[in-house]
Amino acid sequence: MKLKLAVLPGDGIGPEIVDQAMKSVKAIAEKFNHELEYEFALTGATAIDQVGDPYPETTHDICMKADAVLFGAIGDPKFDNNPKAPVRPEQGLLAMRKKLGLYANIRPVETFESLLHKSPLRRELVEGANFVAIRELTGGIYFGDKGRTDNGNTAYDHCVYTRAEVERILKLAYEFAGKRNKKLTVVDKANVLESSRLWREVAQEMAPNYPDIKTEYMFVDNAAMQIIQWPKNFDVMVTENMFGDILTDEASVITGSLGLLPSASMGIHTSVFEPIHGSYPQAAGKNIANPIATILSAAMMFEYAFDLMEEGKLIREAVDASMAEGVVTVDIAEGKSYSTSEVGDWIADYIAKK
Ligand code: IPM
Ligand code: MN
Repeated sequence: MKLKLAVLPGDGIGPEIVDQAMKSVKAIAEKFNHELEYEFALTGATAIDQVGDPYPETTHDICMKADAVLFGAIGDPKFDNNPKAPVRPEQGLLAMRKKLGLYANIRPVETFESLLHKSPLRRELVEGANFVAIRELTGGIYFGDKGRTDNGNTAYDHCVYTRAEVERILKLAYEFAGKRNKKLTVVDKANVLESSRLWREVAQEMAPNYPDIKTEYMFVDNAAMQIIQWPKNFDVMVTENMFGDILTDEASVITGSLGLLPSASMGIHTSVFEPIHGSYPQAAGKNIANPIATILSAAMMFEYAFDLMEEGKLIREAVDASMAEGVVTVDIAEGKSYSTSEVGDWIADYIAKK
């Protein structure tokens, strides 16, 4: 099969971890006889520095022509403490989501046996937790009208959702739940927000079309609590953009391994696969960052974008083997630790030799 990728390393540790993932991608292509074609493109602070735009038109074109996008991370501290910066790396990410129509962000939350002791939760609470958080990614308060009035002394951000936007994300969430343990938790704030009432109304209309799936409704504040109290009660959770931003960060730490969790963003055009962690600028260039979340994002890419399940499975097996062998970076090592590139090489090598 022909695999045409756009590779967007971005900022901070992005280039290093994407390099490692590409080693595995190449090893898989070789092993399964896929014809791999890929093109690098600029994004984030790196793109601002080079061409003045965090998601340049050329990058968008490369993404549109690709079958999948492998993404590193964006963000640079030089922008974080400057609220007046005219253009910010994060705008690149938002522009990419909007222009590629990436309305669904999918974050599987899975535990790794060997890292359970790193979880902030007690082992018995988190062991075996396995759910998928689905976040609506192109609507809501992130993209509503925003601005200032009153000479800049009053600020507003509108949270807007259309029925069509809610329907398409719920449909996707129901499809996920149908393939998993048949439980969908719709998270909202319908006791206060009109946009949430639309979400709940639409969900209640759709639920009867999925009779084998149990639909559960939960207010977001309660969901924030339930995620840490009973994480095993969730199967698929779906929510709007900003609630999802917050809850998925919360969900990601309960496994004790932020550096291991991948994500997929899918929608109308090319899907994007990226680690859920950020650009970790303090580690940039030091060859210490954990590449596993990006390598697992490549596994998701094979599975979701190409429907190549065996390929994804082999990457997962290689990652598990590296952890079992203790070939891991300093963030999760117990004794000896390995560099970013050593872990990347080990995993790609395992794939090649398999
Ligand atoms: C994320 C990030 C982004 C978001 C930022 C960088 C704009 O936190 O992908 O979750 O808020 O969506
Ligand atoms: Mn976030």
